[in-house]
Amino acid sequence: MFQKKPLQAIAVALFSIMVMSGNAYAQDAQRGEVLFKKRCKGCHRLTDAMKTGPGLLGVTKIRDDEWLNKWLKNPKEMIRSGDPVAVALKAKYKKTMRTLKAMQDEGARSDIIAFLKKNDAENGK
Ligand code: HEC
Repeated sequence: MFQKKPLQAIAVALFSIMVMSGNAYAQDAQRGEVLFKKRCKGCHRLTDAMKTGPGLLGVTKIRDDEWLNKWLKNPKEMIRSGDPVAVALKAKYKKTMRTLKAMQDEGARSDIIAFLKKNDAENGK
C-alpha cells in the first residue's frame, strides 16, 4: 500500500503526527497544571489579579517561550544578567521569584508553559 500510493501514505503519516503531537501537547498542559498547583499557585493566580507575584493570565502573549523558559529556570540569574524585562519586573514588584528545584527540568518547564498557553487560550488571551 505504501509503495503504490506514496502520496496517500505521506498524508496519513502527516495526519498521524499531527494527531499525536496534539495529544502530546494536551498531556503536557495537564502535567503543567498539576505542577502549577503544587509549585506556583501559592504566589500566582491564573487571572490578572496580583498575589505575591503578578497574575499570569496573558503572560504567554507578552513573553515568548524562550524568555519564560529562562525565567522559570533561574529568575535571579536573569535579573543579574541584565535582561531588561526581568530587571523591570524586579523594580516593579520589589521582590524576586525564587529559583525552584522543580523548574530545573526542561520537560517540567515546557509543561508549565503549555499549561499557561492553554489557560490564556481558554480565557481569550
Ligand atoms: C514565592 C513566590 C513565587 C513562587 C512560588 C513562584 N513565583 Fe513566579 N513570580 C513571583 C514574583 C514576586 C514575581 C515578580 C517578578 C520578580 O520576581 O521580580 C514572579 C514573576 C513570574 C513571572 C513573570 C511575570 C511577567 O509579568 O512577566 C512568571 C511567568 C512566573 N513568575 C511564573 C511562575 C511559575 C510558572 C511558577 C511555578 C513554577 C512560579 N512563578 C512560582 C513569585 C513567585
